Amino acid sequence: MKKALKIFGIVLVGGILIVLAYVKFALPNVGDAPELKIEATPERVKRGEYLANHVTVCMDCHSTRDYSLFSAPLVPGTLGKGGELFNQQMGFPGSFTSKNITPAGIGDWTDGEIYRAITTGVSRDGHAFFPVMPYPYYGSMDDEDAKSIVAYLRTLKPIEHKPAESVADFPFNFILNTIPKKAVGGKRPADSDVLASGKYLVTMAACVECHTQVEQGQIIPEKMFAGGREFNMPSGVLITPNITPDKETGIGNWTKEAFIARFRSYADSTYKPHKVGPGEFQTIMPWTMYGGMSEQDLGAVYTYLMTVKPVKNLVPEKFKATASKTLTMR
Ligand code: HEC
Ligand code: HEC
Repeated sequence: MKKALKIFGIVLVGGILIVLAYVKFALPNVGDAPELKIEATPERVKRGEYLANHVTVCMDCHSTRDYSLFSAPLVPGTLGKGGELFNQQMGFPGSFTSKNITPAGIGDWTDGEIYRAITTGVSRDGHAFFPVMPYPYYGSMDDEDAKSIVAYLRTLKPIEHKPAESVADFPFNFILNTIPKKAVGGKRPADSDVLASGKYLVTMAACVECHTQVEQGQIIPEKMFAGGREFNMPSGVLITPNITPDKETGIGNWTKEAFIARFRSYADSTYKPHKVGPGEFQTIMPWTMYGGMSEQDLGAVYTYLMTVKPVKNLVPEKFKATASKTLTMR
């Protein structure tokens, strides 16, 4: 009996080791980077700039943000430089730093390698990125849009800067490898198909990630868009609002005009973000970036959001300041 148990134990440990070795060394498996030669037409560069700055907001995470101002706008001259930190204090299972995506950082990657990184979350050397970068959503990007973003990245001003390496904590360093999936691809709907356009834009912007409660890092499907996800900020806790069409607790009473106007107000040339002091309301909602979406696209986003399942979830306040006034945003 004892011997049988021992053998069982050895088999079990052996099995676990094989699984761990598989996860560590055979995954992620998303295939080789495609052979691509992306022609940087002016149309592509323009579309890529629009997406990277106003929809997929790559620049939101890959530039330096000024947290002394509301909505932490980008510091001029840092576009694509990388170095934004997502660490344990903020609730992440490790310390992850966004990378330099200017030509000084990824200039020697092939078009296919950058394309694969965006759409699957796998680096040039085959390692998996932490999915704070919403690549599981970018995986359903239209091929042409992904190419446009690559074309645009090539035009960024090269900035010499080497952000710190990312380090995932155990056991997340194993789990991480199971996240990247082969890109499924998608089709960008015609602008005239307002509902489908809205769905595409909301997916590319990954609005659902911040606006849904999570359980062990995974969004809770029944609560999609219903808000309540908490983010630790140096000045307090930020809680996302409900953006489902529920009339009492969501944005069901907002008109399309009010929705568009709210976003556009942050892109108005007269808009100057106010100073945010310690303990004052600060947000990670990239208002100034999404504000640059066209009225047509914002209208489509609204149209789509009005069709998602209304969920009753009252988020009484979107910010709870920490008691200590000595904390600063540094
Ligand atoms: C919410 C934040 C966020 C957004 C949005 C985001 N990224 Fe990232 N990105 C990161 C982080 C963090 C890493 C590093 C991940 C890691 O090391 O595990 C990263 C890594 C990368 C890398 C790997 C570079 C290298 O040297 O390894 C590329 C390329 C990249 N991002 C491009 C993009 C592009 C293009 C977009 C928009 C389509 C984008 N990212 C959107 C946070 C973001
Ligand atoms: C990085 C996280 C993040 C992402 C991504 C994000 N939001 Fe938000 N959003 C927030 C937070 C936090 C707030 C609450 C604080 C504030 O009002 O700025 C908010 C507020 C809002 C509000 C105001 C609701 C109210 O009741 O005042 C709307 C509308 C909204 N978001 C829509 C969107 C849409 C649409 C998208 C995608 C295009 C999106 N958000 C993506 C974090 C995010």
